Amino acid sequence: MAEPLFDEEVPLYELRDVHVRYRTPTGLVTAVGGVTFDVKPRGVTVLAGPSGSGKSTLLRVLGLIDRHTSGSVAWQGLDVGRLSNRARRGVRRDRIAVVFQAPPDNLIPHLTVAQNLRAAAQSAGLPDADPDILDWLGIAGTGDWRIGALSGGQQQRLSFGCALARDPAVVLADEPTSQLDAASATLVLDVLRRLADRGVAVVTASHDPELVALGDRVVRLREGLLEEAA
Ligand SMILES: Nc1ncnc2c1ncn2[C@@H]1O[C@H](COP(=O)(O)OP(=O)(O)OP(=O)(O)O)[C@@H](O)[C@H]1O
Ligand SMILES: [Mg+2]
Repeated sequence: MAEPLFDEEVPLYELRDVHVRYRTPTGLVTAVGGVTFDVKPRGVTVLAGPSGSGKSTLLRVLGLIDRHTSGSVAWQGLDVGRLSNRARRGVRRDRIAVVFQAPPDNLIPHLTVAQNLRAAAQSAGLPDADPDILDWLGIAGTGDWRIGALSGGQQQRLSFGCALARDPAVVLADEPTSQLDAASATLVLDVLRRLADRGVAVVTASHDPELVALGDRVVRLREGLLEEAA
């Protein structure tokens, strides 16, 4: 059998015995207590688990926003724990897009829809967003609209459009449907699926059974530990 042109199985992230502890006025809190798993470079990975199980903390570690306390985190084979803050910001800017839970947190309210997409592209050093993105999101014709004229669900779809405009290797999304009604959430999930189908890795944290079902891989957490990796 012919060798593949490139190895699809090289992980995007490799986490080994990762701990994250936070110092609080009442002492150290262990948010993540030693987890080991890989994130593949394609498809949707869902971090699932009850409140307080460490999902958001892990997403912040994957986003190179928070540093892990011990263990190791490799990004495309690069040990990011050893990088300076400046180097970590560089990786984040060039290769990682983040979508927050509340749609307005992802968008610049005084800019139009098209201007938001352009600003997102430029934040990753690109000249502009692909003009087909709005059509792809199912909100064609809204380019000149203000953000406030879009529904919450449309805003969240645009948030994923802004993520795509940055041409990232991975999109990290913390509970992206939790503030939406069921119909809007389904449309956002469709965008998330198609984003993964375009070859962008998606890692998302959620309680939403529909989102968990969408995952190509589910990492289940409980109290900062891995329950199972399917
Ligand atoms: N910055 C912080 N300082 C102190 N403790 C923190 C911090 N961030 C998270 N924690 C603690 O770490 C644990 C895991 O929190 P995390 O937010 O990652 O959970 P989660 O799975 O995302 O929960 P939820 O489903 O409620 O969003 C919790 O006990 C939380 O209180
Ligand atoms: Mg959370």
